[in-house]
Formats: sequence, C-alpha cells, structure tokens
Amino acid sequence: MKTLSNYLKDEDRHFRINFFNTLSGVRSVWMVGTQSKAGVKNLGLFNSLVHIGANPPLLGLIFRPHSVPRHTLENINESGLYTLNSVTSELMHLAHRTAEKFEAHEDEFELLGFTPWYFGSYPNVPAVAESPLKILLRYVEKHLIAANQTQLLVGEVIDVHIKVDAAVQSDGSIDHQILGHLAVSGLNDYYALSHLLSMSRSDD
Ligand SMILES: Cc1cc2nc3c(=O)[nH]c(=O)nc-3n(C[C@H](O)[C@H](O)[C@H](O)COP(=O)(O)O)c2cc1C
Repeated sequence: MKTLSNYLKDEDRHFRINFFNTLSGVRSVWMVGTQSKAGVKNLGLFNSLVHIGANPPLLGLIFRPHSVPRHTLENINESGLYTLNSVTSELMHLAHRTAEKFEAHEDEFELLGFTPWYFGSYPNVPAVAESPLKILLRYVEKHLIAANQTQLLVGEVIDVHIKVDAAVQSDGSIDHQILGHLAVSGLNDYYALSHLLSMSRSDD
C-alpha cells in the first residue's frame, strides 16, 4: 500500500498542488461579483464557500494571500458588498474564465459576455443574470489564517434570488440538482450533481 510520500516521490510541484487541491473532495463553485470604486464590474471564481451559520445567515470564503492584486478582495474591502452566482454546465466554460487575471480597468461582465443583474436597492454590486442562484452578501469580518496567510472572509446573506421556485423544497432546503448546479474538485475538475436521498430532518 502506498503512503503519502510514495505518491509524491519523484513528482513535480504541479502534481503536489493538484493532489492537495483535490484531496478534500468536491465543493460548490461560485462566481463572486463585485464592483470597484471606479465602477468597474468584476468576477472571480471561488470553490471555498463554507456555511458558517443559519441564524444569522453567514457564509465564509477563503481568499489566497493578498501578496498580489486581488480585485474581488479589494472591492469587498472598499464596498462591503458582494454577490455569489452559481455555475451550471451551460455557464461552465465562461465561468472558468473568471479565474483568469484581468486588469483592474477591465469589466469582466463585458469581456466574458455575462449580463449584469441587480438586487433592488443595491445598484453598485453586480450579480450574474444567467446564474440560477444569486446571493447578496454584506461583509461582516475576516480572519487571517496565520499558517499560510490566507483569509477567511465572513459575510451575512442580505438577499437571495432563485430562478426556479420548485428548487425550494417544502421543508426549505434547496435542491441544487433542479437548478443544474455543478461541483468542482480543485481548480480544474467539474462534476454534475445527482440527488440521491433526503434523510428525514431534525429541527437543528
Ligand atoms: C475552480 C477554481 C476555484 C477557485 N477558488 C478560489 C478560492 O476559493 N479562493 C481564492 O482566493 N481563489 C480561488 N481561485 C482563484 C481565483 O479565481 C483567481 O485568483 C481570480 O483571478 C480571482 O479574481 P480577482 O483577482 O478578480 O479577485 C479559484 C480558481 C478556480 C479555477
């Protein structure tokens, strides 16, 4: 039986990065929408979304170290607002391109062909019209992970837009298969979802 060092022995840096990036399994994948002070709309791709709590509704995102320009993080620092926009197989190729580096003055909605969409009283934070699930968040707090200089940014859910009402089940849970959402492993591997079973739920 192979040990960790057997798997990594003789392999290069890319093998090691892919190995550890995918070790934790599949996660949800989101385009984060923000806008700079200068009014430039930005998108970034994120797979690190984590549920922090339901009351108040809090979600966390892990940001890479701020050692290079990070437009999503900088825009959130400035405006305190951001959107999460879900990814389907139809959107997958374009969505993946939101991980590319663009210049601060380049509008990623225009460049990639996404349609900006706005939550009623929030005209300065763009969502992606094409995404079946859009979430508006307000920045709450962030935590430096001292071990590697990444940051856990916590936001409170302010509003939600769901394209298909039937995706909200009678008990309140959201069916991500109905919305056509994908999952991602690491940075490159996309998976389709298939809902197997709803266990009977407790109240907590
Ligand atoms: C599938 C995928 C998931 C990613 N998830 C994250 C993430 O959770 N946190 C992060 O800081 N960067 C993540 N990235 C990298 C960002 O998408 C990339 O740095 C992007 O340029 C950020 O955009 P921005 O500079 O406009 O903020 C991911 C990239 C890919 C391809």
